[in-house]
Amino acid sequence: MANEEEPKNHLFNTKDPPLKSHLQSDALYKYILETNVYPREHECLKKLREMTQKHPWNAIAIPPDEGQLLSMLIKLINAKNTLEIGVYTGYSLLSTALALPPDGKILALDVNRENYELGLPFIEKAGVAHKIDFKEGPALPFLDELLKDENKKGMFDFVFVDADKNNYLNYHKRVIDLVKVGGLIGYDNTLWAGSVAASSDAPFTDHIISQRPYVMELNKYLAQDSRIEICQLPVGDGITLCRRII
Ligand SMILES: C[S@@+](CC[C@H](N)C(=O)[O-])C[C@H]1O[C@@H](n2cnc3c(N)ncnc32)[C@H](O)[C@@H]1O
Repeated sequence: MANEEEPKNHLFNTKDPPLKSHLQSDALYKYILETNVYPREHECLKKLREMTQKHPWNAIAIPPDEGQLLSMLIKLINAKNTLEIGVYTGYSLLSTALALPPDGKILALDVNRENYELGLPFIEKAGVAHKIDFKEGPALPFLDELLKDENKKGMFDFVFVDADKNNYLNYHKRVIDLVKVGGLIGYDNTLWAGSVAASSDAPFTDHIISQRPYVMELNKYLAQDSRIEICQLPVGDGITLCRRII
């Protein structure tokens, strides 16, 4: 496990546990989790989530209500081939793997294999490890390699991007050609702890403040990109869904 000095709450300068919702009421969010999400959460997802909560970077995992959303989307579009950029311990990855059909495939990219391997026993226990092709390393060069092969263009039904925010626009410029027309891209953290609409003196951490311009740049770009239809959802830390139309 790395970096014990990471603050408990990486969003705000407080010691309170991080919130993974933009709802104004914590009680309402708790109600949603307890009524709709936890009772439906796969046993292995629950165990992976509980293990991740003990990891120093736990706040970067997607929350379980967002995992439920990914699962629903994947099933609605009958996705079979997916790409994930940013795996961490694998909550979104396992949510995706469980939602895919038995012959579904996920290409999963992350610079850190160690954290992926922390979650791997739960993925194996769920019986879906065979769907995952994990590649360790920076995602951009890997995407560039894929794009050299014309046959790989349009190969993915679904792409989930949840990695380094300073590269989000670079990811978009590549995954737009890797997802098929009619396919879906989800960009995570597009509300960036609410900082995208906060005043400049709001008490966000340096991490949030330094990455905010990149998230705002992406949001602006997506809003004018005529190749996609978009939908910004305030689930988790904000997820922007992009449906490729041309
Ligand atoms: C927010 S976490 C992903 C959370 C994950 N989706 C989940 O549900 O737990 C971001 C991940 O992106 C990875 N990452 C950061 N920069 C990267 C890069 N250039 N290429 C690939 N992965 C990267 C980090 O190692 C980290 O695991």
